[in-house]
Amino acid sequence: MDDAQLQELKQRAPGLAAIYRTGRDTILRAHDLATLEQARIQVLGRKSPLTEFLRAIPGLPADERPLVGKGGNLIRKELDALVEEREAELKREALSASLAHERIDVTLPGQSFPAGHEHLITQTMREVEDIFIGLGYSIAEGPEVELDYYNFTALNTPPSHPARSAHDTFWIVEQRETMPEAVLDADRGVLLRTHTSPVQVRVMERQKPPVYVLCLGKVYRRDSDATHTPMFHQVEGLVVDEGITLADLKGTVAHFARRFFGPDRTIRVRPHFFPFTEPSIEVDVDCGLCGGKGCRSCKHSGWLEIMGAGMVDPAVYDFVDYDPERVSGFAFGMGVERMAMLKHGIPDLRLFYENDVRFLRQF
Ligand code: PHE
Repeated sequence: MDDAQLQELKQRAPGLAAIYRTGRDTILRAHDLATLEQARIQVLGRKSPLTEFLRAIPGLPADERPLVGKGGNLIRKELDALVEEREAELKREALSASLAHERIDVTLPGQSFPAGHEHLITQTMREVEDIFIGLGYSIAEGPEVELDYYNFTALNTPPSHPARSAHDTFWIVEQRETMPEAVLDADRGVLLRTHTSPVQVRVMERQKPPVYVLCLGKVYRRDSDATHTPMFHQVEGLVVDEGITLADLKGTVAHFARRFFGPDRTIRVRPHFFPFTEPSIEVDVDCGLCGGKGCRSCKHSGWLEIMGAGMVDPAVYDFVDYDPERVSGFAFGMGVERMAMLKHGIPDLRLFYENDVRFLRQF
């Protein structure tokens, strides 16, 4: 109803105009859906002034009835429409309020949660792996539960060989050295591999030269103190090709030592013995702490032992059908824990496996 119409109504039916104004104000004041419903009952309900007014029409003089009746119904419609409008408005407001309230800002930084990282042993293995992959080696794998044949016999360590006793083997099916020769069947002994060298034999059985492989993995020995754990990790390297010499081995190891420990490190080699290499060597790297002058960590020698190595013994080629007249090669093996300890100055091997996060987090 516009102002002119209201004005006219005021003159002709002042009671009705007042009812309209009060009703309209009540409806417009409703600030949510519940109060709007209350307002609707108050303004348009059975006991509202408007209903009372309409109910009284039959009692009015006949000439007033049409005007008042028409006006009353008009007002009822107007107020009804007003309630509907207000309801729609309040619903819109409620919706946008809840949208504003529940809005998620996807550009806010997420909640961070602590992410783990690889164990230092794994990191060290990856690091060594990367260095040798850079030299063109591929990665080989072998079983941790191994046959005696691969762990010892085919590495030129027959059942009666004294070198076996130095390995503190975990046997699964034991072949006793005291067994009569006839009963001894080296192929049938089963053990937890004591080193990664059996992978040399497995690779050579599968593949003809040239061979450039690196094998990393767990090995097991019955040892437990500050420098030995019953399980530890080794890296084994094997190269067999035409014309490979000890100079290639030394060059390879020197390159590795510089990449792993730092560009100014040097190595030295000492003669040693392994059943499956001839000649055999042990490799030392100069002590990084004292620069080779001698300190407690290198036991005042200036050198730290890092690996065993040597030229593959031709006797091993017999087991895998390689021709020692045509090819030659070298192998090396090192302990991953030891490499990590030397590189990071870790004093006790057992720290690797106690899984104290305060230790692990440092790397
Ligand atoms: N397998 C030897 C060990 O565990 C190390 C080694 C590997 C030596 C390869 C020579 C060549 O002691």
